[in-house]
Amino acid sequence: MTASNSSLAFNSEEILIGGKWRPAENGATHDVYNPSTGDMICKIGKSSAKDVDDAVRAARAALDGEWGQMTAVERGRLLMRISEAIKNHENELTTLEAMDVGKPITQARNDAVAMARYFEFYAGAADKVMGHTIPYMDGYMVYTLREPHGVTGHIIPWNYPMQIAGRCIGGALAMGNTCVLKPAEDAGLTALLFARIAEKAGLPSGVLNVVSGVGAEAGASLAGHPDVDHISFTGSVGVGKEIQKAAAENIVPVTLELGGKSPQIVFDDADLDAALPFLVNAGIQNAGQTCSAGSRILVQRGVYEDVISRMSEAISKLRVGQATDNLELGPLVSAKQKAIVDGYIDSGKESGLSIAAQGVMSDDLPEKGCYIKPTLFRDVPPDHKLAQEEIFGPVQVVIPFDTEVEAVKIANGTEYGLVTGIWTENGARQMRMAKAVKAGQIFINNYGAGGGVELPFGGIGKSGFGREKGFEALYGFSVLKTVATKHD
Ligand code: NAI
Ligand code: MG
Repeated sequence: MTASNSSLAFNSEEILIGGKWRPAENGATHDVYNPSTGDMICKIGKSSAKDVDDAVRAARAALDGEWGQMTAVERGRLLMRISEAIKNHENELTTLEAMDVGKPITQARNDAVAMARYFEFYAGAADKVMGHTIPYMDGYMVYTLREPHGVTGHIIPWNYPMQIAGRCIGGALAMGNTCVLKPAEDAGLTALLFARIAEKAGLPSGVLNVVSGVGAEAGASLAGHPDVDHISFTGSVGVGKEIQKAAAENIVPVTLELGGKSPQIVFDDADLDAALPFLVNAGIQNAGQTCSAGSRILVQRGVYEDVISRMSEAISKLRVGQATDNLELGPLVSAKQKAIVDGYIDSGKESGLSIAAQGVMSDDLPEKGCYIKPTLFRDVPPDHKLAQEEIFGPVQVVIPFDTEVEAVKIANGTEYGLVTGIWTENGARQMRMAKAVKAGQIFINNYGAGGGVELPFGGIGKSGFGREKGFEALYGFSVLKTVATKHD
């Protein structure tokens, strides 16, 4: 495909290596589908191990060029120009993303805006990462330096392609690293357009390389490449394990963001009017394909029926349509993902679980579109797979509890620990709960806090480790050196 109506026309079959756009080895491609219609829309380059090797070499060489000489303030200014350029191309990015992954236009636009914001945040942060001086024995001057790892690999998923590219590429560049980006098979188009935008904004050749392709080939060869110094990965637990094993061969640090099964805990004294939009939206935003989806709703017995009836009323009004219809939900990303989520809904029905509410499908949706109605299951046993596994679709479960102790036990009773929402007006309980729950982010009387790029994000347990977003991420994208000088 060549993106038309774009001032940055690009050929989706080309990958970016060392400042050159060229086809993958042997011209290999794979097909790209629009999940709103099921139609194939274009082909995208399918990078080989050789292509990835070329990209890593280009990223290594770029460290010795202009980029390696830039001061932190100059890198910051360049990141700010990239942020501005992303904003100037917001419409193209939005349209392309909506077509590629099925996001309703407003949600796709939010992602483009967030990507620009990541670059703005990391632009400002680039020259503010400091070392320390350390009081030590007489005759010594000791200080620490923060330096880039060097070549960083970024393997990202399809659910928030622009936001996740923004957070990992923005942070890595702020610290002076170079990058090789492997977008997901189902979401490569905006990564290619973004690379064009960054290039035009002045990012030197080889600093960002993009190798679209499939996980088992391009992803695996990037994760195991002996000349990559750091890997950041967002995706499934299974692939996260493979990435960690591959990196272990080279003793290379990894940041793993592996999703979750995040609870929202509603106590009897909660402000239900305030909670309701979050109880609903945190589970259905992006059609539920969100690592931090607050989709496990734990409700204290005194308000249990009230919460179910309010959520049911709201969910039964949610509409599912094509990305361009811009309703509350679009399709899932792919037929594969729809099959996974349909399987979960079927398993709930087969276990005799009761569905409290479902949303509404638009009329005349294309037959091959990947649509699922938002679905609310009630009285789900905490150990049922619907309450344990990441569904990654618009399926929410409600679980009753009696006491705070029981709420903590259920909340912490999965393999994951990404996010927890706590709804209570009792201040002491807010503080007890924040300490007791297993999660990298905790929200009290809100969920997500608007997704601010400033807020460090990452998991505990099988949700992974390392922190992305915010200033904290910059420590992960850098190496600490300690320098001790002996003097008279
Ligand atoms: P995935 O984990 O297979 O894909 C994520 C990225 O990893 C993609 O870029 C993919 O090409 C790459 N990849 C796949 N196999 C690889 C390998 N062997 N070596 C290196 N890279 C590899 O996710 P998938 O299959 O698309 O989705 C399946 C499930 O994963 C979802 O249902 C959801 O539960 C979870 N997931 C979680 C995400 C999160 O935000 N934490 C994002 C996407 C998926
Ligand atoms: Mg697609």
